[in-house]
Amino acid sequence: MKPFLDVLSGQATKVPPIWIMRQAGRYLPEYRAIRTKSKGFVDFCLTPELAIEATLQPIRRYGLDAAILFADILLLPQAMGQPLAFVEGHGPKLEPIRDREGLKSLSVNAATDKLQPVMETVKGVRAALPGNVALIGFAGSPWTVATYMIEGRGGSDFAEIRKMAWADPGLFGAILDQLTEATTAYLIAQIDAGAEALQLFDTWAGSVPAPLFERAVIQPAAAIVRAVKAHAPHIPVIGFPRGAAAHLSAYVARTGVDGLGIDHMTPLTFAAASVPPQIALQGNLDPILVLAGGESLTDEARHLVRSMAGRPYIFNLGHGVLPPTPPEHVAQLIDAVRGV
Ligand code: CP3
Repeated sequence: MKPFLDVLSGQATKVPPIWIMRQAGRYLPEYRAIRTKSKGFVDFCLTPELAIEATLQPIRRYGLDAAILFADILLLPQAMGQPLAFVEGHGPKLEPIRDREGLKSLSVNAATDKLQPVMETVKGVRAALPGNVALIGFAGSPWTVATYMIEGRGGSDFAEIRKMAWADPGLFGAILDQLTEATTAYLIAQIDAGAEALQLFDTWAGSVPAPLFERAVIQPAAAIVRAVKAHAPHIPVIGFPRGAAAHLSAYVARTGVDGLGIDHMTPLTFAAASVPPQIALQGNLDPILVLAGGESLTDEARHLVRSMAGRPYIFNLGHGVLPPTPPEHVAQLIDAVRGV
């Protein structure tokens, strides 16, 4: 009934289910049209009527196999009490947390209350989705969310968080633990509201110093998966430790994820050889190729599908679709994957 969930239970399908990271968003004219109805991006995410519509737009346009809740990984720190702003052209900005005082200002309980509108979105989307489309809930992983919280912005060299991790492992660990607890509660609330699968976005896993990978990435993900499975054993979890190819095998073995998102730098065949055969792989077409379009887009999509024949496999990009991407290229990609 839902091919996306079949694959996550370890079944291979002839045609892979497909969804696309950031499938809702600025590359779609219908998203840009409703985005103006809210003054800020955070308000947009916390207005269920708008977030439900944004979640459903790519499903209506393309008939994808899964919808992903429209929200953002930074809603969690903002709901825990850390001010967040999205500055046009600069991305997210937060008041950085660098000491124990900063950590004390965060509250897990406050977050659960403030994120109630997200649960309304989950319920609304679930009620509106066609019977063959699964609903994915998500959160950022503690390391990735902590990079924004400690650096105060995105896309840096992560000097501040790495310095804290080495110089004050107690504080660093306490921030990760607090985030692990809040993330677990947030994901469990999404399940209770109707999410049928979860993805943990670890966008910056590739910048963790190797000796800290176990503590910064694997331990938090393992704790979250364990708690989610204790609450709802049937809900599959996809981990996406982007840029961490050297650690894929340990990540899967020690976190207990059901699926693994692969970035576009890592060959799918390498990932396939690194993890047990029942683990669903997801990925990993270069988002720039979708932007570029043309014959190579169709050829590469078909090549990826063929290379994963016989394996539980979900088609996706290696990272999110980029805002300047022509929506027709996404349609072309989906046709190529489905063999149209
Ligand atoms: O369609 C979907 O995938 C669901 C929605 C979604 C968004 N962000 C919407 C969004 C999801 C799953 C995310 C995850 C997210 N957010 C990640 C992890 C995945 C990744 O892409 O690496 C990260 C690192 C963030 C943090 C974040 N949020 C950044 C760096 C930005 C970009 C800032 C900018 O201005 O370019 C955002 C904003 C954001 N999140 C937008 C959307 C649609 C654009 C904001 C807008 O519409 O004004």
